[in-house]
Amino acid sequence: MKKICLNVILMMISCMFFIGCGIQKPSKIKNNDFKSEKYSFYIEANENRYQEYQKANPEVSWKNVILRVNIGLDQPYYVNSEPSIYLNTSKLLVNKYFYLLEDYVPNNLVELDINYSKGGISLVDVAAENFKRMVDAAREDKINIRAISAYRSYQYQVTLYNSYVKRDGKDEADTYSARPGYSEHQTGLCVDVDNGINNFTDFEKTTSFEWMAENAHKFGFILRYPEGMEEITGYSYESWHYRYVGKKIATYIKEKNITFDEYYMEFLNG
Ligand code: DAL
Ligand code: ZN
Repeated sequence: MKKICLNVILMMISCMFFIGCGIQKPSKIKNNDFKSEKYSFYIEANENRYQEYQKANPEVSWKNVILRVNIGLDQPYYVNSEPSIYLNTSKLLVNKYFYLLEDYVPNNLVELDINYSKGGISLVDVAAENFKRMVDAAREDKINIRAISAYRSYQYQVTLYNSYVKRDGKDEADTYSARPGYSEHQTGLCVDVDNGINNFTDFEKTTSFEWMAENAHKFGFILRYPEGMEEITGYSYESWHYRYVGKKIATYIKEKNITFDEYYMEFLNG
């Protein structure tokens, strides 16, 4: 009896110890601001930047202040940029703050045949499969969509970007073209499209665009540089540029009307 009692006491002490540990475990998200407590993506080291950003942008909600500072939007483009992580996955983020190295070539690139592209265009296999399914589904609705650009190598982007800089100057080129290493096209997960008739810059005016706005997410694609989101994406609106992120993420992004940059900072960062 005495031994049983001792065991029970010992068990109770152990339980209290573990519960105590749980309670006292230092929170990863320690901060002094009650507004931040519910945000798992709050980064204590960024606290001063959050405060500064909110002062400069009082209309932005606290949640969006945190997300935008985490993206890096309070800092100049390209300056404190970091190499992208999630290489060779559909979570890969490339923007003006996350870049790919010169020698990064995605695995499993496959060429789209001319039923789906203007020719000589490659995507990562999972993106290619879903792109083809999407084009087939559009065709059933009598809508034409074809790829006009998808994977681009670092070197190709060097040539492209330099040609834009020569034509329009660096400041202007930076509003619509990525610098080498900073282009999502190097991921092999995005695709520029047209309807096979109109210039891609007029894609927005086509029924193909309307179809994409309604259906792209069902195949895992999002409009990557939407109108009105220029300050977040860092690029002018591109009605023709779609990014494969998978069906679940694409649906969430469409429903919440957010960018991939924001989604990434909310759910994938760190
Ligand atoms: N036009 C897009 C932003 C690129 O150059 O990758
Ligand atoms: Zn593009």
